[in-house]
Amino acid sequence: MALTRIQKAARIAGQQLAGRQTPFIFNEWYIAALSKEVSRELMARTILGKSLLFYRKLDGTAVALSNRCGHRSFPLQHSTLDGDTVVCGYHGMRYNDQGEVVEVPSQASCGGISIRHYPLVEMGPVIWVWMGEPELADVTKIPAMPMLEDGWVTSEEYMDLKANYVYLHENLLDLTHLSFLHANTFGTPDYAKADFDVKITDDRMWLKRYVVPTRLPPVWAKPTGLEGKDAARITTSDFVSPALHIVHAEFYDISLDESERPDQRIKTAHIPTPATATETHYFVVHGRNFALEDNSVTEFMHQQLMAAFQEDVVGLQQQEQLMAQEEGEEYFEISVKSDAASVAMRRYIKRRADAERGLIASSSAVQTTATQQPQPA
Ligand code: FES
Ligand SMILES: [Fe+2]
Repeated sequence: MALTRIQKAARIAGQQLAGRQTPFIFNEWYIAALSKEVSRELMARTILGKSLLFYRKLDGTAVALSNRCGHRSFPLQHSTLDGDTVVCGYHGMRYNDQGEVVEVPSQASCGGISIRHYPLVEMGPVIWVWMGEPELADVTKIPAMPMLEDGWVTSEEYMDLKANYVYLHENLLDLTHLSFLHANTFGTPDYAKADFDVKITDDRMWLKRYVVPTRLPPVWAKPTGLEGKDAARITTSDFVSPALHIVHAEFYDISLDESERPDQRIKTAHIPTPATATETHYFVVHGRNFALEDNSVTEFMHQQLMAAFQEDVVGLQQQEQLMAQEEGEEYFEISVKSDAASVAMRRYIKRRADAERGLIASSSAVQTTATQQPQPA
């Protein structure tokens, strides 16, 4: 069946947007694991389509190597950790923490054999990894996570999302979906029609929503003491990098003057690390700056939030399955006003991916730097 004029235009516009077919961006810092996941047990995790091996040295330093033995491709996760070295479980080649072979059991010399070593940087509850060209690894470009600053309480989680990472970024940049996908958890009916501002730069996108007045859902109403009150819920969705999205939100009683309002904010890092084209490691680090001493608030918020984020996981997986089935000549996506930030984000990811493959000049797709982080809109 022929596409309508609008459908055809949407199909053409969609060719400039990143999607499930877009190659990964390698020259970027990604979160590989939560700190608590990496231990003295060998652990394998696929990141950007590469299988990596993780462990901790005796002094606690986290290490990442290729998980593929350089000899005959045995998965090193099924090997032995001996001190700070890994002894391959197939023919016994021994690797140090830099991926260099230091022993070949069947011969006297090692002949300079090595596998790839990946730089890691551990920051509080998360471990960042550099998957790109080794000479471009620059720790000053790791984006800041403001909820890890003093005076904030955090909790973290890992979810296995069977969908492409681009659509998780998109989900986060348009919170219209709170009224529908999250109707039974932290969405409210007024969310979808609330006013919003969009701010777009070359490499960063924000969407700020003003839900005022509103009644807060339990996850925010209980810990802030705003149950049953007319409140403001102001949320900024902030695309920081292809590896990090931060949601900033503030809540207050609208009957109070600005000077009387307690400072009650949350910041949630949503961290999509691509595993494959159809699977994403979805890490969350959630922080708040109030009720700091109350562990029951941490547990309550964590449980409520993760129940809501599971709705995203289920929805994005359902979307992924249908896209996989339907893609082809008649595939199109129609964008609306509230998609402005997410369309800009998908154009940016596409430009970055094209630049890495040399398809466009790299000057139009520079990496976000930690020193250039403006405040949310
Ligand atoms: S496959 Fe690892 S030593 Fe042979
Ligand atoms: Fe959501």
